[in-house]
Amino acid sequence: MSETTNNSGSQAPQASSGTRLLPRITVQAFCEKSQTAQLVESTLSDRRMAKVALTTHNGGLEGAIETYRANPTPNLLMIETLLPPERIPEALEQLAEYCDPGTRVIVLGHVNDVVLYRQLIRAGVSEYIVLPTEADTLVSAIADLFASEDAEPIGRTIGFVSAKGGSGSSTIAHNSAWATAQSLQQQVLIVDMDMAFGTAGLNFNQDPPYGIADAVLAKEKLDAVMLDRLISKAASNINLLAAPGTLEETCDFNEDDFEQVIELVQSTIPLIVLDIPHLWCGWVRRTLSTLDEIVIVAEPDLANLRNAKTMVDTIKSMRPNEPDPLLVLNRVGLPKRPEISATEFATAIECPLIGQVPFDAALFGTAANNGQMIAEVSASNKINEAFLAISDRVTGRSRLQTEARASGIGLSSLMKMLKRA
Ligand SMILES: Nc1ncnc2c1ncn2[C@@H]1O[C@H](COP(=O)(O)OP(=O)(O)OP(=O)(O)O)[C@@H](O)[C@H]1O
Ligand SMILES: [Mg+2]
Repeated sequence: MSETTNNSGSQAPQASSGTRLLPRITVQAFCEKSQTAQLVESTLSDRRMAKVALTTHNGGLEGAIETYRANPTPNLLMIETLLPPERIPEALEQLAEYCDPGTRVIVLGHVNDVVLYRQLIRAGVSEYIVLPTEADTLVSAIADLFASEDAEPIGRTIGFVSAKGGSGSSTIAHNSAWATAQSLQQQVLIVDMDMAFGTAGLNFNQDPPYGIADAVLAKEKLDAVMLDRLISKAASNINLLAAPGTLEETCDFNEDDFEQVIELVQSTIPLIVLDIPHLWCGWVRRTLSTLDEIVIVAEPDLANLRNAKTMVDTIKSMRPNEPDPLLVLNRVGLPKRPEISATEFATAIECPLIGQVPFDAALFGTAANNGQMIAEVSASNKINEAFLAISDRVTGRSRLQTEARASGIGLSSLMKMLKRA
């Protein structure tokens, strides 16, 4: 088994304090002038930017609008503009149409105008910085947005849990995380919460020395620096808090043992996929009550239906103000098995169906044995579209919309397409 990890040395990482690093966010800058591009690039030598993926592009506001018509937006957009002040709000409004939820915008302008500043902040721009300025000013502005004590946690948490043991929630979680990492080009963290039998390490062909058990057991000693050392890199844009896969720890944790870990990872990584074991205990229930999205993975049979129904009812009553759980049907079309139809299943449990994945023993067996994702074993397989659709839904980004933008389809024809689907 190959081992790729960003941990160094064999000593277990110790907690330490230190200045706040910025989270693993993606930043894209659109610059009108080459000096501005150089200034933005020079921020990378600031240690707070060590985990930030930054790219600079030519073109200012128009360039950005053109680019994001057909592409997902990063966590932070920095846009230089030479437009006269009265035209900036209007151009930004146009850009806003293409911004994904959660994207922050910093405008770099050449006019020191307090009225414009107020207008932009009111319109949702996070900061307006007047050029010329120093790299430190830019980094501090980014740090205020993403790393200050009162900054909103950036990490969106998405939990996958099976309705019955073995229905495939881990497989769907890992492949959907992969689809997200590739399509959005954002950092994703997979947290394998199945301490004893978790397969995230195996499925990504990794055997990292540290992982989720070290994070949970560190309790109050855990801080962002220590956590960072426990996270290993599994693939491009995919990070892992792997389960030890040993029987040293039992899974009878306290109800709130995972809470601090989840809160901390939310402050360092934009997308967090939790691979939750098929258990019903205090810490699973508590975790489910706090997540942004919950995906229940079920096979289309009666036991899965019964379990999915009780899970959905309990989750809905536990978190009445949060989004309802979502359903993925897996191992659909298992030869000779009588199955409940997808529509009947989804209607019975009153839960939106966001994907159906067919049973394919050869494909999934090969992927599992090789420690590869389905897209790596068979890039052109239609099953990958299901993973992309699941990823789009749980991250709040709609591929349909992106494609509609690219082809210039308006809202009304988009609604018609949705009705047809
Ligand atoms: N669509 C599919 N077709 C064929 N095999 C599949 C499919 N999905 C998953 N599998 C296989 O089923 C087995 C169980 O999958 P997985 O470990 O993802 O289940 P799980 O729901 O996470 O289990 P647990 O509830 O124990 O956590 C694995 O060997 C996996 O490769
Ligand atoms: Mg599992």
